[in-house]
Amino acid sequence: MIASLGWVRKAVIPAAGLGTRFLPATKALPKEMLPLVDKPVIQYVIEEAVRSGLQDLLIITGRNKNALENHFDRVAELEETLSKKGDEKRLFAVRESSQLADIHYTRQGDPRGLGHAVLRAKSHVGDNSFAVLLGDDVIDSRDDVLNQMLEVHERTGDNVVALMEVPESQIHLYGAAKVASTSGNELVLEGLVEKPESNAPSNLAVIGRYVLSAKMFDILENTGPGRGGEIQLTDALQHAAKHPEKAGGVRGVVFSGRRYDTGDKLDFIKATLRIAVDREDLGSELRAWLKDFAKGI
Ligand code: G1P
Repeated sequence: MIASLGWVRKAVIPAAGLGTRFLPATKALPKEMLPLVDKPVIQYVIEEAVRSGLQDLLIITGRNKNALENHFDRVAELEETLSKKGDEKRLFAVRESSQLADIHYTRQGDPRGLGHAVLRAKSHVGDNSFAVLLGDDVIDSRDDVLNQMLEVHERTGDNVVALMEVPESQIHLYGAAKVASTSGNELVLEGLVEKPESNAPSNLAVIGRYVLSAKMFDILENTGPGRGGEIQLTDALQHAAKHPEKAGGVRGVVFSGRRYDTGDKLDFIKATLRIAVDREDLGSELRAWLKDFAKGI
């Protein structure tokens, strides 16, 4: 895959959520550290950013998130032990996570919503456009949406969100897009509504990928609490769509590949299975077992 050659170099990864849907597993462990097979969820997200040429990453963390920083750090004793044993494969895996990218951290402080978390990145990001990848939303590495989003942003200067069609009964769980015009899988949006209870403008849901102009920080600074009393990124984007002269308009790229909301238990299990059945070391045995298992249910 060709990495983006544009001017977007930084990505912000909000990972400060409490993971309440996964309690008690997330009582002491950040939800982003739950493993999909043998890699923590957030490593898949970081690898996706790196595949798109984004090397400077800022993770927005919260309390209880030390395990995240430790995961992306070197562990000299472990490396030494594996090296002495000649276990090159595991040594590579351990080193890999500490060499993926230039990773920075800041804490969100008060949990005041996704818009607030993104705003915490303002001084790190500076004046250039940047990507936002939600730390528990995994896009299968065999599919891609971020490269196309970067291309659309670089061509138009507009903010770009990734969208996915969901059943109407599910749209209340997402930001929903109001579409002005369509060209292939690229849409111009005239608005967005965060988690509509009724009268959703479409069944196109915002999934956790955004490419934003730095001017969105000014809009976020002036965005008051919305749904759930939180500062919503969706509300700031709604404002941008209505006032494109301030920070660019808003476009959507419709994604139809494999995406897993790993904060949701069922999606987490599906993600684990989908990744595992295609793994060289596990796939054939697991497929055979699943076929047998399915007969009995
Ligand atoms: C956030 C956003 C929402 C988006 C969703 C995607 O909600 O606010 O607009 O559709 O991520 O996962 P959350 O799932 O954090 O409540």
